[in-house]
Amino acid sequence: MKNLEVEIIDLDHFGRGIAKTDKPIFVENSLIGEVVKIKITKEKKKYLEAQVIKFIKTSPYRVNSKCPYYDKCGGCDLLHMDYHEQLKYKEKKVREIIKKFSGLECVKKIVPSVQFNYRNKVTLHVNKKIGYYQRKSYEIVAIGNCLIADVKINNLIEKFQKCNLDGINKIVIRVTDKESMLIFDGGRIDISKFKDVDTIIVDNKILTGRGYIKEQIGKLKFVISPTSFFQVNKVGMINIYNKVLEYVDKDSNVLDLYCGTGTIGIYVCNKVKEVLGIEINEEAIADALVNKKLNNLSNINFKAGDVGKILSDNKFKVDNVIVDPPRSGLDENAIKNIIQIEPQKIIYVSCDPVTLARDLNILKQNYKVVEITPFDMFCNTYHVECVALLEK
Ligand SMILES: C[S@@+](CC[C@H](N)C(=O)[O-])C[C@H]1O[C@@H](n2cnc3c(N)ncnc32)[C@H](O)[C@@H]1O
Repeated sequence: MKNLEVEIIDLDHFGRGIAKTDKPIFVENSLIGEVVKIKITKEKKKYLEAQVIKFIKTSPYRVNSKCPYYDKCGGCDLLHMDYHEQLKYKEKKVREIIKKFSGLECVKKIVPSVQFNYRNKVTLHVNKKIGYYQRKSYEIVAIGNCLIADVKINNLIEKFQKCNLDGINKIVIRVTDKESMLIFDGGRIDISKFKDVDTIIVDNKILTGRGYIKEQIGKLKFVISPTSFFQVNKVGMINIYNKVLEYVDKDSNVLDLYCGTGTIGIYVCNKVKEVLGIEINEEAIADALVNKKLNNLSNINFKAGDVGKILSDNKFKVDNVIVDPPRSGLDENAIKNIIQIEPQKIIYVSCDPVTLARDLNILKQNYKVVEITPFDMFCNTYHVECVALLEK
């Protein structure tokens, strides 16, 4: 198909520019107001996808990305956009999605985070090269320094460049303020090169250290095991947890659903009467029990299992329910059971505004959705986290 010259009139929910001809064209790496020459890369019945081959007019909000891998790497989507504009884009995106799928208009101002070096966990793929997957592909983009990863992670990536990585398929690096953990899938590694790493795990076997690392948030301490969920951006996580803490009622009985390692429940423990955390991952529950002990808490307990099933099999009477489900949101069974419990408040932490809007559209029949606050957790990507407060 011939090259076209188009004007970008909007952005889609994945951060791509939208141009309109007889059908919409989604153009990677373009901003509103820009005029660009494009090459069509995909032709579908209802839309086209394209890449920019020449900028005719650029946006004042375009910034030169300092990342040398940005054009190929699948990690970031918005590095070409000024950070303030990224925040405006995400806030507008949440507002539009919530209105479209739930009819609600109660989205507040977005809470920013730190733009760079925030990620405490990365997954590196290895096959001759070491790096991240390319956008929409399993090709590896060799990475030297990742702008959004913690400095300790970048120091380790630099060391890997000088190592023999034969036989290794994947390396997960997790770090906290003071500690680091390497999790290898396959291969043999010369651990003498990684003496400053606190724990090394190869094919599920602990080679050095305790097999977990510790993080501290204020006075609270948390352990993180290789497969347990832990929020990837500490500043963003504290912002979100403070919002949940603000919302929970003093001296209330609380259910913390999809609790991971128990972090949210533990964060609110001092304000409330009692917390029960429910989580499907047994390793995360084991961490949650260690976290309870580490923080000398007696008013929090945990149950391992599927939220929907545990809520169906038990009768709970609580004042507040906190939910923090994966991207897929709440399943029908979970929603039905939460409504039957009749909590005064539901505090919904979400990492996908589309499933949040879908679930709020059901919950709003029994609850007033008071407000929804977007949080920037995954800076430079199109992802956005939200906390919603619902009251009976
Ligand atoms: C977004 S994480 C939230 C973790 C935790 N609230 C935190 O802030 O660290 C979602 C958690 O839900 C858990 N999960 C997923 N499906 C589940 C289910 N059906 N029942 C219980 N837990 C589930 C995952 O293992 C994961 O730990």
